[in-house]
Amino acid sequence: MTALTLSTAAAPGLRADAIVVGVAKGAKRPVVAPGAEAVDEAYDGKLAGVLETLGASGAEGELTKLPAPAGFKAPIVLAVGLGDKPAKGASYDADALRRAAGAAARALAGSKKAAFALPVADADAAGAVAEGVLLGAYAFDAYKQNGGKADNGKAPLAEAVLLGGKGRDKAYKAAVERATKVVEELNRARDLVNTPPNDLDPAAFAALAETAAKEHGLKVQVLDEKDLVKGGYGGILGVGGGSASTPRLVKLSYTNPKAKKHLALVGKGITYDSGGISLKPAGHNETMKCDMAGAAAVFAAVVAAARLGLEVNVTGWLALAENMPSGSAVRPGDVLRMYSGKTVEVLNTDAEGRLVLADALWAASAEKPDALIDVATLTGAMMVALGSRTFGIMANDDEFRSTIHETAEQVGEPAWQMPLPEHLRKGMDSATADIANMGERMGGGLVAGLFLREFVADGITWAHLDIAGPAFNEQSPFGYTPKGGTGSAVRTLVRLAERMADGEA
Ligand code: BES
Ligand code: MN
Ligand code: ZN
Repeated sequence: MTALTLSTAAAPGLRADAIVVGVAKGAKRPVVAPGAEAVDEAYDGKLAGVLETLGASGAEGELTKLPAPAGFKAPIVLAVGLGDKPAKGASYDADALRRAAGAAARALAGSKKAAFALPVADADAAGAVAEGVLLGAYAFDAYKQNGGKADNGKAPLAEAVLLGGKGRDKAYKAAVERATKVVEELNRARDLVNTPPNDLDPAAFAALAETAAKEHGLKVQVLDEKDLVKGGYGGILGVGGGSASTPRLVKLSYTNPKAKKHLALVGKGITYDSGGISLKPAGHNETMKCDMAGAAAVFAAVVAAARLGLEVNVTGWLALAENMPSGSAVRPGDVLRMYSGKTVEVLNTDAEGRLVLADALWAASAEKPDALIDVATLTGAMMVALGSRTFGIMANDDEFRSTIHETAEQVGEPAWQMPLPEHLRKGMDSATADIANMGERMGGGLVAGLFLREFVADGITWAHLDIAGPAFNEQSPFGYTPKGGTGSAVRTLVRLAERMADGEA
């Protein structure tokens, strides 16, 4: 990952390939954002005018390159658009900073070192810029012959210096350190999502969890196929039954002696979703390596909580299986006896996520956590409802659902609250079993949520995040979001753990 440091150095003397400044949309013309005063002075206070002449408006994500003023050690100034200038007295929105820093970092691929002179009025803003830079400078090139080079054939920015004049301020330093730890884990989740399914099966994923647990002092328990049979995990076994790669249930625990609360996280970890016997048609399965993004997010969040030393206990459950069609695969019409004891008639083997999650939710419930959240690329219906950048939040508790939504907003992750309408439950009535794994087509994302709710023990506060849209970016990169795996939900989960540690949630 890009090396990032804070510095109080003055821009002119800095040895770097580029100095990044912010430009915002003023009422009539672009305005230079705070943080770039020294740069503006070197242009005789005419930087805004120069940018306007070059056609810059300050629109979000806009990039304008210009030669650095005489006397600068860096050859180039890169102005990045921040969008509308904040109202008088207000500071720049954290996510606008994050997106701009990310767009600039992406544009600087191929450079060795860049300095960022963006408006960092406080430590939170510095943390946001740090996150944006580190998230934007991501590349997944493990499978390219020219390894180490990003999409445009250039290696990601190697070194970033954050200018702010408060480099020695403890709060700034802490914010940048936090950002570095969170993004390191988040980028690891992106790597896992991007890793092709022939190299990341349930056993390989579990092995990575074991390695990380050792490195960060976590407790880890891996249930393999034999253990799952012994324990009666019918959902995970049913889904994994069609694959030559056997399923796993991984429990990863971080405990802090000062913890007052326990957060349990459950992740959908379908390392490849072919649909099973209800096979997906061509055009719908090329990106299905992303179907373990929930488990990757949970994995990243638990490790990040440990690395941050949060005073909260966090348990992650990774429900890992590969959904394949074969002679041993679960059939439409089969009935599975789940870990909770409930029976499920499988009407569609492509509705597999809810089956593996059901077993993990029941297992997580048994520990009576203060809060339980599952994260899953669960339904195409949620993408139809909310688009490809927003995740849906469902819950059995209105306040908890709002808390998660508020937390997502704090970290800049688009999310929206969705209902669990009771009338949709009867669509899953089965003539043979306690419940079917499919219901009405309309509101399919909510139906899936209602199914999961049946496997959360009474009295447990639970929420379900359907990240099917934002987990995997099939379009061009934007802001700090690359193509492919995005690390969706990691920052929300980490922030929520922090809030629980601080007694705020
Ligand atoms: N993994 C898919 C959902 C998905 C679709 C994630 C597109 C990301 C992008 C899930 O297992 C699935 O196939 N869901 C079905 C459920 C249906 C059969 C009830 C769906 O959404 O079509
Ligand atoms: Mn599926
Ligand atoms: Zn799936």
